[in-house]
This record gives sequence, C-alpha cells and structure tokens, in this order.
Amino acid sequence: MPLIRHIGVLSSGGDAPGMNAATRAIVRTALAEGVLVTGIMRGYSGLMGADFEPMNPRSVSNIIQLGGTILKTSRCQAFFEPEGRRRAAVNLEGARIDALVAVGGDGTFRGLQDLAEEHSVRVIGVPGTIDNDIFGTDYTIGFDTAVNTALESIDKIRDTAASHDRIFFIEVMGRHCGALALAVGLAGGAEEIVIPEAPLDIEGLCETLTEGRRRGKQSFIIVVAEGAAEGGAQALAATVKERLGFDHRVSILGHVQRGGSPTAFDRALASRMGRAAVDALLAGQTGMMVGVICGRISLVPLPETWETRKEVDLDLLRVAKITAT
Ligand code: F6P
Repeated sequence: MPLIRHIGVLSSGGDAPGMNAATRAIVRTALAEGVLVTGIMRGYSGLMGADFEPMNPRSVSNIIQLGGTILKTSRCQAFFEPEGRRRAAVNLEGARIDALVAVGGDGTFRGLQDLAEEHSVRVIGVPGTIDNDIFGTDYTIGFDTAVNTALESIDKIRDTAASHDRIFFIEVMGRHCGALALAVGLAGGAEEIVIPEAPLDIEGLCETLTEGRRRGKQSFIIVVAEGAAEGGAQALAATVKERLGFDHRVSILGHVQRGGSPTAFDRALASRMGRAAVDALLAGQTGMMVGVICGRISLVPLPETWETRKEVDLDLLRVAKITAT
C-alpha cells in the first residue's frame, strides 16, 4: 500500500455551501492520522501556480457554518490542457504532496482523473455542487442549502403573487440539470416546473394557466431551470404572454442560491464525505469519488461520475402538478 504522508486539498468549479465543512473534515481527519495537509488556493489555478498554504487544525476553526470556500475556487481552462496538468504535477512533487482531494463537480473530476492518469497522482473527488447532477451519489454538498435558499425566495414571491393575482416565472440555477428546480418547485407548490430533462411543452403550460384561471386560481408559480428553455425564464414568459396576453413577472434568483450558511444536512454530509475521502486515500484507494447512496458512504470510479447520467425523478413533475391543482 502506498504511504500517504502529505495530502493537498482544493475546491474547484462553482462554490457550494458546505465546501468549508468538507475542507474542515479533510484537514482534521488527515492531521489526526498524522498526515500533513496543504490547502491549495483557487482550485486548479492555484495548483498550477503553486499557491499553497500549510494547514493546521486551527486553519479550519469556525468555518463549518460558512458558505463559500475559504480555499477559494475557479473554473480553470488551462488545467484542461496537458501543459497545465504537467505544471500542477511538478508543483505537487516540489511540495512533496503525495495525494490530492478535490471538492467540486464533474468538470473538477474530469481534470482530476486526467491528472491522475498522466502523472500517477493519487486522487479522490468529493462532490460539491448545488446542481446535484453527479452520478454515484444521492446528494452533492450544497444542494440541500440551495433548495432551501431558493424556497425561501419562492415563498416570499408567493405572497406578492397572491396579493396581485399574478403569474410568476421564477428561474433557478441548473444549466443542464433540473434537480434543483424539481426539488424547489415541488416544495414551493409550483403549478409548473420546467426542466431540461423533460420536453418543453408550451401548449401544456398555457393550458395549466387558462384551465387554472377557469377553475378560480388567480396566482401561479412557474419554476424554470435556467437551461430548460432557450433564453431562460424571460424568453419563456414572453412566449406565454404572446399566446395568452396574461400579465406576469419574472424573477431570476441567480447566484443568491450559491451562497449562505449550509444547512445541517449539508454540514453533516460534507463532514462524512471529507472524512471518507481521507480514509479512502489511506486505505490505498485512488481515482474514486466519495458518495452517499441510501445513507451510506460509497466509492465510485471518477469516470463513471460523468459518463453515467444521473436521472432525475420525472414522477415528481406529476406529483407537483396534481398537488398544485
Ligand atoms: O454548477 C453550479 C452552477 O451554479 C450552475 O447551476 C450554474 O449554471 C453555473 O454554476 C453558473 O456558473 P457561474 O457562476 O460560473 O456563472
């Protein structure tokens, strides 16, 4: 079994609430095992630029409740080139770092796997993204917080929608995945949820509105995932207005969904996954992502996390619709 004496930890891609709780767990689990830890700043960009910070137990004090990531993050295109990864490997070797834990989404994992294959670096991924779009885990760190953040806004919008008898189109994050829209739409009592995984049905949407009005419904909440319609909620609302002429408002929740203090669920998930990532490295694992399936920690090979599409439960669309009639 390879001896791991020193690990590097980084966060990469879109930040997600709970990333700090994961960093805290990784740092403290490793130190408790007598393993040195270095924080790599700004994701792969800091890895290529050797922007390293030694970590001790106090480096991660009082961060479990913080949103964002103290390690900072980036979406680093240069790391997707072999030269970028070569520089990263040279820096890891120079700092005598034996293994890397990266917290992020599928883009993070692709880069991580390439680095591992080309330079024999031992790596483990931890899923951190509000999108919950990673195969191999039921939940990603940050999803639960984002759902609750978006829900708080939707509840407030419902107050004003009901007061004015208005139709609201509310856009939530998710360029390629409707998991967030589905969860928040169902919990927020939306009349319609529009997601990239289901065909866009303008006719059906118009019918929900006209039929609803006929049955005495005055206000409506339509939750739209940002990638579900060309031009997002704005364009969709304009198309519906052209057909029906109903007055409406559009609200784009945007990056507010990425911030804020993580929920208890995300803090616990991040703590478990962070610890499991270090345990996996010390047990000789590499090239894997830590996940949680049916409540239990699991490991899945990194390529599977993006090669296998994580399905959303389309039945939730029907549950939302029938419960909002
Ligand atoms: O991957 C998380 C995410 O928040 C997506 O939901 C969203 O489409 C994207 O990141 C936005 O990225 P950026 O902050 O780079 O604009």
